[in-house]
Amino acid sequence: PRKIIIDTDPGQDDAVAILLALASPDEIDLLGITCVAGNVPLDLTSKNARIICELAGETHVPVYAGCDRPLGRELVTAEEVHGRTGLDGPDLPDPQMALSDGHAVDFIIETLRTHETGTVTLCPIGPLTNIATAFDMAPDIVKKVQEIVLMGGAYFEVGNVTPTAEFNIYVDPQAAEIVFRSGVPITVMPLDVTHQVLVTKPRNTAIRDLATPVGVAVAQMTDFFERYDREKYGSEGAPLHDPCVIAYLIRPDLFSGRHINVEIETTSELTMGMTVADWWGVTDRAPNALFMGSVDADGFFDLLTKRLARL
Ligand code: BDR
Ligand code: CA
Repeated sequence: PRKIIIDTDPGQDDAVAILLALASPDEIDLLGITCVAGNVPLDLTSKNARIICELAGETHVPVYAGCDRPLGRELVTAEEVHGRTGLDGPDLPDPQMALSDGHAVDFIIETLRTHETGTVTLCPIGPLTNIATAFDMAPDIVKKVQEIVLMGGAYFEVGNVTPTAEFNIYVDPQAAEIVFRSGVPITVMPLDVTHQVLVTKPRNTAIRDLATPVGVAVAQMTDFFERYDREKYGSEGAPLHDPCVIAYLIRPDLFSGRHINVEIETTSELTMGMTVADWWGVTDRAPNALFMGSVDADGFFDLLTKRLARL
């Protein structure tokens, strides 16, 4: 199985990504979960990650708290999407499980230093603050990363937080710039893909009908999470942004995209955090990312539902 670290700000869709990883031990060896401020402040994201591990009965996975604010800006959160707790919907108990000692950034650095080069994949599904801080503090780890598979950015689907920016990149554009210029192989799940995986009513019912604590909680989470997108965009259901990252590791054949150049806007207030994606290859800037454009949504939900049934 592929060794990964999930870097996250749960978030209902983050929660589903964590559950999908925990349900897939043949393909994924989850070394740890590192939390960052994003959808809600750090105290809540690091609590929510543990709530989800306990829901899955997988309390052996270490959960670390990381950076509590972006590198150079005030924290922007998204309670209007995820609720006050960040995990509104199900009524889950407070975690018994403790946070692991130490800072998430130190865990990322240590893990990369102690594993062979090219054997650890980073899976950021929140703002990129922890990853960029690790690269800044320990440049020697950059070449050790196997791949970064992240959720962030947009091209045709442009923005969900400003007209031109996607939330994860917008919250910490400086961090995103460090990551996209790092030279590490990057695979990107932008809104263009994640807006294709919508939890429609029948898909929600199929998950609820698993009739397990995990199935019911995921159905309740997506019920809550879909309100925002339904009201705002007339979407047919909650977009499962972050689980695309984990689904890609299990079934890369479900996705297709292009190797292109992606630069991050870090100065203009108007377009702050925009992923300037050269989809048509109109510049001579070197490709730095595999930017996904489409997904087999039915295949994705078939995989997700079957995997959640295992927990
Ligand atoms: C991203 O922002 C967050 O609200 C979601 O968890 C996802 O990571 C989508 O733009
Ligand atoms: Ca997220």
